[in-house]
Amino acid sequence: MDLLNQNRIWIIGGSEGIGLELTKQLLNKGSYLVVSARKAEQSIELVKLQAQYPKHLALLNCDVSLKDEVQSKTNQAWSIYNGLDTWIYNAGTYHPMTLKEWDINAFDKMNQVNYLGAVLFMHALLPLFEKSHSSEKKSQTQWLWNISLASDFGLPYGGGYSAPKAALQNLAESLQPELEEANIQLKVVNHGFVKTRLTAKNDFTMMGLMKPDEAAKKIVLALQKNHFETRFPFSLASTLGIIKRLPKSWALKITRTMLHKG
Ligand SMILES: NC(=O)c1ccc[n+]([C@@H]2O[C@H](COP(=O)([O-])OP(=O)(O)OC[C@H]3O[C@@H](n4cnc5c(N)ncnc54)[C@H](OP(=O)(O)O)[C@@H]3O)[C@@H](O)[C@H]2O)c1
Repeated sequence: MDLLNQNRIWIIGGSEGIGLELTKQLLNKGSYLVVSARKAEQSIELVKLQAQYPKHLALLNCDVSLKDEVQSKTNQAWSIYNGLDTWIYNAGTYHPMTLKEWDINAFDKMNQVNYLGAVLFMHALLPLFEKSHSSEKKSQTQWLWNISLASDFGLPYGGGYSAPKAALQNLAESLQPELEEANIQLKVVNHGFVKTRLTAKNDFTMMGLMKPDEAAKKIVLALQKNHFETRFPFSLASTLGIIKRLPKSWALKITRTMLHKG
């Protein structure tokens, strides 16, 4: 039987774009989902899906930047199906900016959503997962964090977004061995440009731009495979992978060419 069939999954950031497509594909696989976003319970798309899958889809409003609500939201999500097998952190926000236009509130928000929110929910979920899954096979229990290929190397104007993503990648690498000991398989997905409201803010040609359902399909595959990191598409993943490994002075010469002219 498919590992994801009957799997109890909490998706944080499942109301739009990639997360919404992930929700649809996991419902098709027979998973039991709790889907969260700030207004998940009011989302027309999610409410329609709930009518279609009343036993398999629960909606839970949750703003990852509200620290005081993390424990109560975690307890609520946990209790809906009497436990969880998988947690997906997909919440993200993006505000490109030049140094001159630096918006400290937007930067603060990107830190909260792209990094600190994952850490807060990880901290609240860990004791629950440890208690209920300590004796199970690790493949049945997983956490997947949707990070970004932007975490590979800081690019002009995108640092406010990519720096918290890079912090999350570094944290994942640091925590994976301990989590594995605790029978929790931590996975990261680092993918490139996907056509959503986030990338609608970009005014440049996006190499390898994908549709949200294509990206979601690859994330579902990542849930079924046994790899720590999944990277796609190949073209952008290898380009950024090379930039990351070049001597920094060479890499910075390349990224300097990305500055706006004039
Ligand atoms: N699009 C890309 O090219 C791309 C590339 C690499 C990585 N990613 C990552 O993929 C993930 C999904 O991105 P997307 O492009 O699908 O963006 P999106 O369409 O804007 O979806 C983002 C999701 O996060 C939720 N979210 C945002 N702020 C939140 C908050 N404070 N609390 C709870 N949920 C919140 C949103 O719901 P509400 O706004 O309703 O709360 C929505 O469900 C993000 O982590 C993003 O960084 C995207």
